[in-house]
Amino acid sequence: MVTTEVKITDKQFKQLSDIVYKETGIVLDEKKYNLLVARLSKRMRKTKTKTVSDYVQLILDKEEEFANFIDATTTNHTFFFRENKHCEYMLKTLDNSKPLKIWCAASSSGEEPFSIAFQLLEHSFSFSIFASDVSDSMLAQCRQAIYPKEKIKNVSLPVLHKYFQNGRGKWQNFVRVRPEVKKLVTFGKFNLLHDIPSDEFDIIFCRNVMIYFDVQTRQHVVNRLCRAIKPGGYFFVGMSESLHGLDHDLINVVSSGYQKK
Ligand SMILES: C[S@@+](CC[C@H](N)C(=O)[O-])C[C@H]1O[C@@H](n2cnc3c(N)ncnc32)[C@H](O)[C@@H]1O
Repeated sequence: MVTTEVKITDKQFKQLSDIVYKETGIVLDEKKYNLLVARLSKRMRKTKTKTVSDYVQLILDKEEEFANFIDATTTNHTFFFRENKHCEYMLKTLDNSKPLKIWCAASSSGEEPFSIAFQLLEHSFSFSIFASDVSDSMLAQCRQAIYPKEKIKNVSLPVLHKYFQNGRGKWQNFVRVRPEVKKLVTFGKFNLLHDIPSDEFDIIFCRNVMIYFDVQTRQHVVNRLCRAIKPGGYFFVGMSESLHGLDHDLINVVSSGYQKK
């Protein structure tokens, strides 16, 4: 199938990247031109929209397509047991007699919160995890907790057997997180830029998302999330991220991991 990509003017690129920035904090600079065009083209095909200006009007008029567009512009790459050093640090440092309230604040399709859940269960912690994202389609995947088998390549056999169910029939190439694990994780939409946390957590994971933000947005997000960490609680960012250059009152305790005084 031949798919043609739309042509957009500099003005339209700026208009669309401004919309994404205002809604999510994600910076789409000229280096992301091809990415934006590819994802915009896909949405335009899907909505059968002929011109870019018609599509801009559509997202301004229709909340649902606005959400679909934002959804299409997010990068959702994740995998089970990604950057697991943080979880290992937690298991080594924390006392499993105290229940933990955890927040995965950009959980994408759910591999991160479920990986944390498997390990806490293995170490007999009692816990609850709130997993959130700005993307509706990612949240739908989290709630399903069904993954194609190629996504579990780096999951050990004991973990696979204990915490996943094998699909049958048309689902034979898929696995599903067992319901007893799934019920320990709740999912909800939370926009790091605009929503205000209404709860306090022992640990917040906000990994591999601030990399898409500029310094100003990072500071804004860190200010808000820090208020939601209990005293003595932890904050983890992605391994290639840090709070360097930002104002905060956290202590760096492990690579890309911080503790509130
Ligand atoms: C690359 S994934 C990271 C997933 C996981 N935390 C990990 O480290 O593997 C980044 C996620 O951040 C989400 N995201 C982007 N901007 C956001 C915002 N303003 N509020 C909440 N989530 C956002 C995206 O939808 C995406 O699912």
